[in-house]
Amino acid sequence: MPAAFAPAGPGTFFQPVIVNKLCDMTDEPDSANTKFAFGKNWAGFLETLNDKKIKAAQESMQRLLGIDDLQNRRFLDAGSGSGLFSLSAYRLGAQVTSFDVDHDSVGCAQELRERFCEDESRWIVLHGSLTDTDFLKDMGRFDVVYCWGVAHHTGQMWSSIDHLIRNVDSGGLLVLAIYNDQLYISRAWYLVKRIYQRLPGWLRPGYVVAVGSVTFLKRLSMTLLAGILRLVAFRNPLIPFTNWIRQTQARGMHGWHDLVDWVGGWPFEVARPEEIFRFMRDRGFQLQELITSTGHGCNEFVFVRTNESTHPLKSAEVV
Ligand SMILES: C[S@@+](CC[C@H](N)C(=O)[O-])C[C@H]1O[C@@H](n2cnc3c(N)ncnc32)[C@H](O)[C@@H]1O
Repeated sequence: MPAAFAPAGPGTFFQPVIVNKLCDMTDEPDSANTKFAFGKNWAGFLETLNDKKIKAAQESMQRLLGIDDLQNRRFLDAGSGSGLFSLSAYRLGAQVTSFDVDHDSVGCAQELRERFCEDESRWIVLHGSLTDTDFLKDMGRFDVVYCWGVAHHTGQMWSSIDHLIRNVDSGGLLVLAIYNDQLYISRAWYLVKRIYQRLPGWLRPGYVVAVGSVTFLKRLSMTLLAGILRLVAFRNPLIPFTNWIRQTQARGMHGWHDLVDWVGGWPFEVARPEEIFRFMRDRGFQLQELITSTGHGCNEFVFVRTNESTHPLKSAEVV
């Protein structure tokens, strides 16, 4: 069983035996033949890309980092996926380096660079892995390291983060987005993803639709309930619906490709926000921004590298 799902702390006490049994499958999370083909999904997404989505991605980055621009900042997009956030950083004025382990994802970033960049020298696209310490070391340090939704797909989440923090310059920012640990619900998602991995290719789209429909109906009923409760309290009942729409469009993503990424995304690990916070604090990073997930999504973190401990009785393990 992968470490992320081994009984670890008080929170795991109640995990249902049946889910544990079902999850006890033999493949290791990082085995190459079970890795999800992220890049193929991203290539489909690029066909749907338009100005509105690029603008939404750019604004989400500005909001998360709390900045207006990234003029002359060195920006590393670690696990660049579609390349959309590298493009956003480029448009905000940064000197961008992006890399991904998936060749098709690398191709997506190259395509976006060709399609949208006048000054290609301001955006370097590389093939490489978060788990390759030599590769990371060769890249040097950056003002912003953006690693959104990646470390939990490497099969070595904690060591990947540990490697990557060496690329953050003193005073620089590290952005992480990591799947929220929902205890037995996360274990059920683990099972959903394992089933996807084991299905023949032609059955996978139907499976994604089925999982998506259940998730959609659950969300719809919760939103309806929230709307009714607001109505009873003489408050605007449409707010839960507008919040839902805003959330789904927040990063310029596409509903279908996001869903495929979520259902198929493998390897898969999760963490509670406090686990990430403590891990980073002990390495000389201060939390600057935190957006927690209310469900199975990612918790988003922005850390500043201070090289000093924020724990009064502990010195930082500066890397
Ligand atoms: C969910 S996507 C996120 C993409 C992008 N960061 C974003 O915010 O849209 C995860 C990406 O991580 C990449 N990835 C997975 N393991 C990796 C590794 N070991 N090194 C670099 N990239 C990796 C995948 O190929 C995929 O493109």
